[in-house]
Amino acid sequence: MPKVTRKPLIAANWKMFKTPDEAVAFVRAFIPLVATYSHAEIVLSASPTLLPTVVAAAKGTAIHIAAQDMHWKESGAYTGETSPLQLKAIAVTHVLIGHSERRQYFNETDETVNLKLKAALAHGLVPIVCVGELLSEREAGKTASVLESQTAAALVGIDPAIAGPLVIAYEPVWAIGTGKTATPEMADEAHKIIRAQIAKSLSPEIAASTRILYGGSVKPASTAALLALEDIDGALVGGASLEPESFSQIVANSAV
Ligand code: 13P
Repeated sequence: MPKVTRKPLIAANWKMFKTPDEAVAFVRAFIPLVATYSHAEIVLSASPTLLPTVVAAAKGTAIHIAAQDMHWKESGAYTGETSPLQLKAIAVTHVLIGHSERRQYFNETDETVNLKLKAALAHGLVPIVCVGELLSEREAGKTASVLESQTAAALVGIDPAIAGPLVIAYEPVWAIGTGKTATPEMADEAHKIIRAQIAKSLSPEIAASTRILYGGSVKPASTAALLALEDIDGALVGGASLEPESFSQIVANSAV
């Protein structure tokens, strides 16, 4: 595979945490802590009600703001949903797609992930598509086939010509919020499987330039060992992203 440099991407996923006041307090405290780091792209993923406030608080900095989900249509009678146009209009730049919590609790399917990915790319949002196996799948020896099929399904019908911004996050479901991290070697092996599938589904060039993030109980202490591996290009962080100190430490420790 051609060798390219991939800028690390360190993304917070705040999930359903924080009020607008708490979110602003986070951003104000966080900005000076990461002001000198330019080695990584930094993203904060927040609930819809926080997005305008967080965008305003981070304005003029290198911090990007992500939605945690979106609908694939531009507008319509879809009560409770948020469209790519609505996100663009408030200067949101990134979007999480297919997080395992959405797959588990909100009927997200490979098909809706694919529709959302197409919409994100068409609208110039940076998509962070989440894939990952359940514990039962890992124990049954199905990790590779699950990752291949989730990745392939997400990429069905994607035009390689517009797939440049694509980001994938490998989040083994058993490692999310459990304190159990995949070892760096386990994660790297999974990332190689995902990258090979991107090469098959899109092209070797897109596969070589696509950033693949690891997510699942990432902490400041585990960051450097993960990021040191060839195919781990960043982190998607839940619990440890809720405090400015710990999340800024993860950004700092990603410079490897
Ligand atoms: P934790 O870091 O809390 O395990 O969450 C990971 C995650 O789901 C990020 O999207």
